[in-house]
Amino acid sequence: MFIEKCHNFHDFRRLAKAKLPSPIFNYIDGAADDEITYRRNTRSFDDCDLVPNVLAGVEEVDTSVTVMGQRLEVPFYCSPTALQRLFHHEGERAVAAASEKYGTMFGVSSLGTVSLREVRKHKNPQAYQFYFHKDRGLNRAMMEDAKDAGVNIMMLTVDSITGGNRERDLRTGFSIPFKLNLNGISQFLMKPMWGLNYLTHEKFKLPQLDNHLDMGNAVVSISQYLTEMLDPALNWQDVEEMVKYWDGEFCLKGIMSVDDAKKAVDIGCTGIVISNHGGRQLDGSRSPFDQLQEIINAVGDKIDILMDSGVQRGTHVLKALSLGAKAVGIGRYYLFPLAAAGQNGVERALELMRAEIIRDMRLMGCKSVSELSPENLRHRVK
Ligand code: FNR
Ligand code: LAC
Repeated sequence: MFIEKCHNFHDFRRLAKAKLPSPIFNYIDGAADDEITYRRNTRSFDDCDLVPNVLAGVEEVDTSVTVMGQRLEVPFYCSPTALQRLFHHEGERAVAAASEKYGTMFGVSSLGTVSLREVRKHKNPQAYQFYFHKDRGLNRAMMEDAKDAGVNIMMLTVDSITGGNRERDLRTGFSIPFKLNLNGISQFLMKPMWGLNYLTHEKFKLPQLDNHLDMGNAVVSISQYLTEMLDPALNWQDVEEMVKYWDGEFCLKGIMSVDDAKKAVDIGCTGIVISNHGGRQLDGSRSPFDQLQEIINAVGDKIDILMDSGVQRGTHVLKALSLGAKAVGIGRYYLFPLAAAGQNGVERALELMRAEIIRDMRLMGCKSVSELSPENLRHRVK
């Protein structure tokens, strides 16, 4: 199968599976415990139906939105994800270039494999996803780097203070830098093209951390990294200090409760991302789409509310926007095409999502995102 023949998330996922060694595919595709939350995330959109209007004169459709002071040409953005050069040798370079082409925001992960500074050469809005480490000196240095690089939005992830139980990674031995158990190694040998690409391109590094942190020869699983390196003592007071120190657009990623959304407003955050990390952390957690209404009702007029987890279709984006989300993050939806075909793949995914949104807005009788409202939705009564 070729990338041009991929028409949706499932096609991208299949192609990525064919190309990636299974430990890497399973790191992307996997989630915590029984993966119930992972499955629910996408299904939650099916419990709610769109009610279109017609004859609305929809030849011109404006898909742009403004989020935390940034104009996005489309109402979705590339959520920060770790280790992208492991999925395809173009990694963050591909995602940054593709999101620039579509005029949307790119979130760079603390565990990114290309430096903030290099990604910043692209002119689209950029968020820096921050992991708060036990080493406070490291945190300070990372904030300084982000300021120097001219990042637009600081995005602190708050749902990963300890690693989720990702049993697929336990089985394959997936770790950074690489270490695999025997089963994992045999899987790599079965995908020699990936191995060749990996070995003939720039050495794997984590530039956001490498300059400040000596990981020595430590080999850790991602879950271990989160558990051992991040500070479980992090609290609202620490974050309030960070918000003051950053003195700019600041958003918390991984908020799920109304109380926490209110606290985010109180400490001066300008945005929150309602997210369960794509089901990779707390299995059994509610889906962000199910939880959106409560949070919008409580603080929708006080802070910009974004959401991610499970988004695979233009109609998913339109449902979230109808409830009042300002923009919607995508994760695996762009990672699978990245793995399958680098920048071409990510562009194909963003193009399909944009085309779906324009088509669906026309079918909904909406000329601009601001015309979407809860009036367009009905929740099914069970
Ligand atoms: C992630 N996510 C993530 N989030 C974050 O704050 N920092 C990170 O480094 C990563 N890394 C990461 C790697 C991979 C492989 C995945 C799949 C996800 C979570 C991500 O930003 C987002 O919340 C979810 O991906 C959203 O769910 P969907 O769209 O993948 O269903
Ligand atoms: C993940 C981390 C790195 O979800 O956020 O794998």
